[in-house]
Amino acid sequence: MKIIVTGSAGYIGSNLTTYLLERGYEVLGIDNFNDYYSPQVKEFNIQNFHNNKKFRLYRKDISNRSDVQEIFKQNPDTDAVVHLAAWAGVTYSVEHPHTYVVNNILGTNNLVDQCLNHKIKNFIFASTSSIYGDNPTPFKEEMDTSTPNAPYPATKKASEVMLYTAAKNHDLNVTVFRFFNPLGPYLRPDMALPKLIRSAEYKKVFELWQDPNSSSRDYTYINDMLKAIESVIKKPQKYEIMNLGNSSPVSLSDLMDCVEKITGKEVETKKKYLPGQMKETFADIKKAKALIGYNPITSLEDMVKIYYGWFLNQPDWYKKGDF
Ligand SMILES: NC(=O)c1ccc[n+]([C@@H]2O[C@H](COP(=O)([O-])OP(=O)(O)OC[C@H]3O[C@@H](n4cnc5c(N)ncnc54)[C@H](O)[C@@H]3O)[C@@H](O)[C@H]2O)c1
Repeated sequence: MKIIVTGSAGYIGSNLTTYLLERGYEVLGIDNFNDYYSPQVKEFNIQNFHNNKKFRLYRKDISNRSDVQEIFKQNPDTDAVVHLAAWAGVTYSVEHPHTYVVNNILGTNNLVDQCLNHKIKNFIFASTSSIYGDNPTPFKEEMDTSTPNAPYPATKKASEVMLYTAAKNHDLNVTVFRFFNPLGPYLRPDMALPKLIRSAEYKKVFELWQDPNSSSRDYTYINDMLKAIESVIKKPQKYEIMNLGNSSPVSLSDLMDCVEKITGKEVETKKKYLPGQMKETFADIKKAKALIGYNPITSLEDMVKIYYGWFLNQPDWYKKGDF
């Protein structure tokens, strides 16, 4: 099968591309290597597969309509699109909403239009737990998500709704996965776990954007999510929204304790509270279990051990985070 993965040089995209290539899929990656974080890291993310014969990379911007048209024109035999490309990051979006509207909403729309033009019938979209805003936990898919805390989840909500209309009016299957804090190799450098590990290893100060005792996240092992994506590549859903989380939230304090235990080193912190943050993420995952047999099985301690073991084997420039 031939799969388009947008954002293939990013954290989740590079993990998914590796996962699909290992299972015999052909992958067309699209990524513009933007500078939300260092493009050097994105080049590093693709190093293990960019020469793979079953992989082809388009260094293009999905918000450019004619570039997207051209890619799809060259690949009308695509079986599914897994759309991961986006400006992610809640905090940055508060001051830069325009960037998020252009890349996340317009970009999604350009891809959907080309799926419809070429009769590509399976579209899988990466949404986010932050769409739930201040809803009570655990978060359920049917909750009202019209009042998120920042532009980033607002653009994901807009895309979810546009996708709903595309599935309703056309012969297009759409699955929206709301990801909950995936942990794994190549994790984005702006996320808490790499920052905490770098703080422990290199005495870099970790900024506390929230009270660590009263904020928590539903950390989820990335491979559990990749299996879920593959199951929908194989068996499309007409239009479904599913949470992909671990259903077991952990406070930031507990994550910090876990990092200190596994590294055997202390983390240095400084308070710098910021707007737009979620207090808690906590997924109800009954729907994904029932529909696609989703079954996350990895504990936080194992996720941190896997990440730390991988991290220690990377080159010095990467480990130090000097990029
Ligand atoms: N990592 C998380 O904790 C998390 C949680 C919830 C949802 N998500 C979603 O999952 C997806 C992947 O996230 P990630 O953590 O891998 O982020 P990432 O920033 O590492 O990857 C996104 C990739 O998309 C590319 N990109 C962005 N705009 C583009 C454009 N206009 N054209 C082409 N490429 C573009 C970037 O260069 C980047 O390589 C995103 O849609 C994100 O919103 C991530």
